Amino acid sequence: MKTVRITLSIVVALVFMLSAVGCAPKATVAPPPAVPVVVKNSGGYVIPVAKCAPNCKYSDMTLGFIQTGSEGGWRAANTGSFNETSKQLGLNLKFYDAQNKFENQISAFRNFIQDPDVNVIVLSALEAAGWDEVLQEAKAAKKLVVLQDRRIDSSEALYLTFIGADFVEEGRKAGNEMCKLLKDSAKKNVVELVGNVGSSAAIDRGKGFRETMTECGIVITQSQTGNWSATEGKAVMEAWLKQSKDIQGVFAQNDEMGIGAAQATNEAGLKAGTDIKILSVDATAGAFNAMIKGDINTVVECNPLLAPQVFEAALKGLNGDATLPAWIPSQEGVFYAADAATILPTRKY
Ligand code: AHR
Repeated sequence: MKTVRITLSIVVALVFMLSAVGCAPKATVAPPPAVPVVVKNSGGYVIPVAKCAPNCKYSDMTLGFIQTGSEGGWRAANTGSFNETSKQLGLNLKFYDAQNKFENQISAFRNFIQDPDVNVIVLSALEAAGWDEVLQEAKAAKKLVVLQDRRIDSSEALYLTFIGADFVEEGRKAGNEMCKLLKDSAKKNVVELVGNVGSSAAIDRGKGFRETMTECGIVITQSQTGNWSATEGKAVMEAWLKQSKDIQGVFAQNDEMGIGAAQATNEAGLKAGTDIKILSVDATAGAFNAMIKGDINTVVECNPLLAPQVFEAALKGLNGDATLPAWIPSQEGVFYAADAATILPTRKY
């Protein structure tokens, strides 16, 4: 027993001495709990950084895409850009066509918030207003949100970035170009075919056109929605021509409505592009063919091939990259009937 006590006191003494000189086995101190790093971009959006960050790859992305519908050439090119590019990059795309119904977009948004696989939601908003609630829900569920094509009225702090056109600037260009088309015309009565009511595209293009039309004394004598469609655009123009043929120009907020207005003009015994100048927005192949026929005079471009920029921004978001601006504007031009035949073969949509 005495031996045991002696041995024990020697061991205790040894440990004491070793700890005194720092050789004792270090007690493992648990590292302090990781303070969640809040990553915010310039718009004030708190980025829901993914677990795979900073090395997330496109194969880590499941993206729920809420499209407006399938109205016309521009929309088909925009949807095609998403389907093709997602295949090329190897990301999982869940596509939803809202058939141009706002309530469908809201319910699809909530379904994607509920979907455990979805880590990114991309929205092409039918209407600019009414998104705060679901965006707050997406924030609470840590779903990354990116807007494409159409801006919304909600705060930039509720989405990572918006990738799309400056619709006001498109409208300004249209006003300037209509002034050029009517420069030799004593009267400048213009009718406006508007996009779907409440959309930022329709609101902003109308606003921009009214800013520059005053420079040459253009008067808007009629303005009505044609819902982006050739059929409705034609019907509205037919009704206006029945009321009065004292129209010198048509501002069609997209190509389809411009093509419809040209058909109505020609069927009313006037010459579209000559008796009545027609300007449209988008620059799809349909508009180029109408320019070659002489039915449309000028086209202001709106670029639908946005998917590569959207996917790149979403991946940066998943990786916690806070350097993205709140708006990434797309590059766009203006095209004239005189050059249409030469340019058409080079166009992607
Ligand atoms: O948001 C872009 C607009 O939507 C296009 O100008 C139109 O063709 C489409 O419906």
